[in-house]
Amino acid sequence: MNPETIETILLVDDDDALLEVLSEYFKLKGRYRIITASNGMDALSIIKGETVNCCVTDINMPHMGGLELAEQIRKIDNTIPVIIMTGFPSLTNSIKTLQNGVVDFLVKPVQFDQIELSIQRVFQQRKLFIENILYKKEAESKAKLEKLNRELHLKVNELNILNRIMSDLTETSSGSDVFRRVTEMTITLTPATEARFYIINEASKHPFEVTSAFKQPADHHNSISHKISKPATSSDSKNISDRNEQRSVLNEFLQTIAADGIPLLVAENHAPIQLPTGICSFIAVPLSIQEKVFGLLTAAIKNDNKFFSPKDLYYTKFMLKRAAYVIENWALYENIYENLLSTLYALVNALEARDSYTQQHSIRVAALSTVLGKEMNLTSEELDILNVAGRLHDIGKIGVRDDILLKKGSLTSEEILEIEKHPLTGANIIEQLGLWEREQIIIKHHHERFDGKGYPDGLQRNNIPFLARIMAVADACDAMASDRVYRKGLPSDGVVEIISEEAGLQFDPDVVNVFKKVYHQGSLKLYLPGKK
Ligand SMILES: [Fe+2]
Repeated sequence: MNPETIETILLVDDDDALLEVLSEYFKLKGRYRIITASNGMDALSIIKGETVNCCVTDINMPHMGGLELAEQIRKIDNTIPVIIMTGFPSLTNSIKTLQNGVVDFLVKPVQFDQIELSIQRVFQQRKLFIENILYKKEAESKAKLEKLNRELHLKVNELNILNRIMSDLTETSSGSDVFRRVTEMTITLTPATEARFYIINEASKHPFEVTSAFKQPADHHNSISHKISKPATSSDSKNISDRNEQRSVLNEFLQTIAADGIPLLVAENHAPIQLPTGICSFIAVPLSIQEKVFGLLTAAIKNDNKFFSPKDLYYTKFMLKRAAYVIENWALYENIYENLLSTLYALVNALEARDSYTQQHSIRVAALSTVLGKEMNLTSEELDILNVAGRLHDIGKIGVRDDILLKKGSLTSEEILEIEKHPLTGANIIEQLGLWEREQIIIKHHHERFDGKGYPDGLQRNNIPFLARIMAVADACDAMASDRVYRKGLPSDGVVEIISEEAGLQFDPDVVNVFKKVYHQGSLKLYLPGKK
């Protein structure tokens, strides 16, 4: 027989004769290894020392009885079946109460074959019992796995959100854009129904709201398609004084948070903190730049049975840290940008300073272009472009030789061609810097003519960039009004007359009309040579 199929049975009884007979009986069966012990104590030390598959024990023994032995065995290994032989059937209930582990009982006097049957039965039960334990363990590890999986999903989700915050803020193009994104993301990533960003620092003291975002009421319960909207400016005069009072309480509250510099989460507003009515959950996170509070993000859930969690606070804190980093970078970049621009302006000034007739020409062209642009209702961004392009429009003259540029007499046709390269040279200089793309286009085309006879590309009418058409008028006006070595500068009415005659030829008639309007308003002379 395969030794692995031989079961070891421990027989425990204080009756040596019985032990001997039982041992012989089971040995003869050939599939059992028999160990004997005359009391519970001896039996326990055997069990601690070697593998026992089943224990058959008398109930009454000196030192340790069968019931206690069964209990002790259960503590050591609750998969070892114990069969208790008792002469008192009334004890069977007590034996059953042992329950844990596999226990059977036999009422004395017992037949040997009955013992064997019982052994086979408890082995079967043991098998089931072990299977049950394994199944339980499997279920437990499955539950653990599922828990880990859920945690992993949460982590992945969190990472996705953090990544999104990182990339959304990296794509911003200015400080104010950062604030707008922060409020929009707060609305999208948290249950906030409104988010506001305030500038608040030592200088401003009072919080100044710069941007806000609101969740559309229709989408309250749709966590995916949150819409962002600007707040409606309230014309509702009802309860204005109440609102003013609430606002001043809130402002005071925000000032305290900004002064502390510590983020705040009011998960459920039970009013120990005085917040405006209707706010059931509130978050405020300061934005610090170079360790100084610069602004404050607030997020609120209004009239909704939802509350912020520490996770929401964590996201908003992360967002503002990232925003501070982006703004610091922007400040650094804008500094470089300003430096570079100053260098270029200085270059143009130096260029113009060599010729007393063109001194300050670019500054005046920039100023006049901007005045015309304002009159034509250009955006502030377009006016900025006009200003920078005006200041730099002749920077390409750096590439023209001095003997041509500063020549007193009339120019040969080759020399004229050389000078006419300056718009392209200027555009190339700006292009190499990788900045000011729109300014670069104006610089390139500031000598185009409306009738297509200009340079460098001979563009016509609306094909000429609009801002370049404005600058062409300002440039020509300043050139005509400036003194030259061979002539005095024209008076403003003379300039206006020539420019008017050139409407539709050299110049865009619409720009000429605006130019005349500025002249009639009397403000043109402010931008002519000698006036500034
Ligand atoms: Fe020019």
